[in-house]
Amino acid sequence: MGYLLIEMGVCLSMLLMMICVDSQSNERSLWIDGEHKIAETDSDFICATMDWWPPEKCDYGVCSWDHSSLLNVDLNNKIFKNAIKAFSPLKIRLGGTLQDDVIYQTQNHQEPCNPFIKNTSELFGFTKGCLPSSRWDELNTFFQETGAVVTFGLNVLMGKTVLANGSTVGAWDSTNAQTLMRYTVQKNYTIYGWELGNELSGNGIGASVSASQYAIDTMNLQTVVHRVYKDIEAKPLIIAPGGFFNPSWFKEFLAKTPETLNVISHHIYNLGAGVDQNLTEKILDPSYLDGVADTFKKLELTINTSASYASAWKGITVLLMNLDNSTSFDVKLSVNSTWRLHKHRSHTHRHHHHHRHHTTKHAHETKTGGKRIRIRTRQEYHLTAKDGNLHSQVMMLNGKELTINESGDIPSLEPLYTNSSEPITVAPYSIVFAHIPHFTLRACKR
Ligand SMILES: *[C@@H]1O[C@H](CO)[C@@H](O)[C@H](O)[C@H]1NC(C)=O
Ligand SMILES: *[C@@H]1O[C@H](CO)[C@@H](O)[C@H](O)[C@H]1NC(C)=O
Ligand SMILES: *[C@@H]1O[C@H](CO)[C@@H](O)[C@H](O)[C@H]1NC(C)=O
Ligand SMILES: *[C@@H]1O[C@H](CO)[C@@H](O)[C@H](O)[C@H]1NC(C)=O
Ligand SMILES: *[C@@H]1O[C@H](CO)[C@@H](O)[C@H](O)[C@H]1NC(C)=O
Ligand SMILES: *[C@@H]1O[C@H](CO)[C@@H](O)[C@H](O)[C@H]1NC(C)=O
Ligand SMILES: *[C@@H]1O[C@H](CO)[C@@H](O)[C@H](O)[C@H]1NC(C)=O
Ligand SMILES: *[C@@H]1O[C@H](CO)[C@@H](O)[C@H](O)[C@H]1NC(C)=O
Ligand SMILES: *[C@@H]1O[C@H](CO)[C@@H](O)[C@H](O)[C@H]1NC(C)=O
Repeated sequence: MGYLLIEMGVCLSMLLMMICVDSQSNERSLWIDGEHKIAETDSDFICATMDWWPPEKCDYGVCSWDHSSLLNVDLNNKIFKNAIKAFSPLKIRLGGTLQDDVIYQTQNHQEPCNPFIKNTSELFGFTKGCLPSSRWDELNTFFQETGAVVTFGLNVLMGKTVLANGSTVGAWDSTNAQTLMRYTVQKNYTIYGWELGNELSGNGIGASVSASQYAIDTMNLQTVVHRVYKDIEAKPLIIAPGGFFNPSWFKEFLAKTPETLNVISHHIYNLGAGVDQNLTEKILDPSYLDGVADTFKKLELTINTSASYASAWKGITVLLMNLDNSTSFDVKLSVNSTWRLHKHRSHTHRHHHHHRHHTTKHAHETKTGGKRIRIRTRQEYHLTAKDGNLHSQVMMLNGKELTINESGDIPSLEPLYTNSSEPITVAPYSIVFAHIPHFTLRACKR
């Protein structure tokens, strides 16, 4: 899915869209404001997390992690490898609750390198655990082979004391992290960003760190990174706090870390816990989904009113979703902007990582204000659940099952080529990505 989402991410997600409803019919008009962008999204915004939880981690009576942790997942699994390659470059964040209790094995091998052991008296329900340097080597080889872009979450609780009410005292002891970083640099492993801590902002999960102490720890991280990467041109990003947004905490934290942070990260669980019986209803309820917009607005406001922050690592992807179970909609796309079309030509796309080529002819017409999009060929990707079962683990693309074949290869994602003058038909319970190639809207220009 990489190719398709990337295209969407770069251009259409920047556009403000308006849907006009004609209640008399199932026709909808979608106007794209090509003049104003509302957000920018990295072209490689697709991401995943590899967590630390051992198989003994259970929630709501289910032990769901099995051998999926970065300490024990099978890195030779062909399907896993192929999946990451298919998204290349996939951003992978290494982190999660237990990251703050990880000890990185050092070359001296003085201390034993023990795994996490379940113990309900301990913070987060497990003892401290250790990342063997041999596993760090294997992981980095794997990331190099699959073309992943890696962010590593560091153990900010190291050196701190956690009080009974969850608040913490003391500064981050960065010695162990610095050793890991030096080793990483020596081995030429590329780390895209070093992120400090996991879900400790505001009230935190299990434990919390005050904004002022977090700022001090983040400046310490910057010092360590500058020292370790002194002779290296491409510096990794400094990312924090990887926690829940809390306006006063974030405001103070940002005020105290000018010139330190490259990326502000925050976590949202807007759909609630995995055990929620109403999850399907929530996903299908647009007003529920809109609820999280408020958090993003407040975060944006906090960033706007803080000193010198260039960007926030967040984004919006626009796509057509039909959340109705029986009505099909016909959506007409229009653009109310001047836009530049590329020359009439035969164009060959090269799809990276899908190892295939195809040629399409685009007969483009020029321009402008208030007119329907006139490019003749559009690419459409219609996603539905197999047999209409929303809990199915099999997704259909343009009516065909998306499954790996017997060699464990990820299927290529073939669009439908449709006449751009026709409306897009969005079937019940479906998601549609429509890509109109080769034109530039003013809002999308850098
Ligand atoms: C396009 O439409 C939007 C929404 O109606 C409007 O805000 C914007 O000013 C329009 N732009 C142009 C160039 O007409
Ligand atoms: C669990 O941790 C507590 C507190 O650190 C300790 O006293 C206890 O011995 C541990 N239990 C086991 C089974 O290791
Ligand atoms: C937690 O306990 C400490 C020590 O008892 C106290 O100083 C601190 O204010 C408490 N923090 C919160 C958030 O209640
Ligand atoms: C790392 O890269 C440098 C410069 O390219 C090279 O001299 C060195 O041998 C490499 N080290 C390892 C462990 O690959
Ligand atoms: C699920 O939704 C129903 C009806 O909307 C509501 O009565 C119920 O409390 C919800 N359950 C949960 C666990 O949120
Ligand atoms: C933040 O600043 C940008 C750029 O100046 C502006 O477009 C946006 O409306 C501001 N957001 C908020 C929530 O104030
Ligand atoms: C569609 O929704 C209606 C009203 O909520 C319900 O009565 C009907 O059973 C649903 N149909 C399907 C196919 O889920
Ligand atoms: C599996 O799919 C890939 C990619 O589409 C293809 O190159 C390969 O030949 C297929 N293998 C088999 C056994 O069908
Ligand atoms: C595309 O659709 C328009 C409007 O329905 C029609 O006039 C035109 O002939 C179609 N073009 C092609 C190539 O089928």
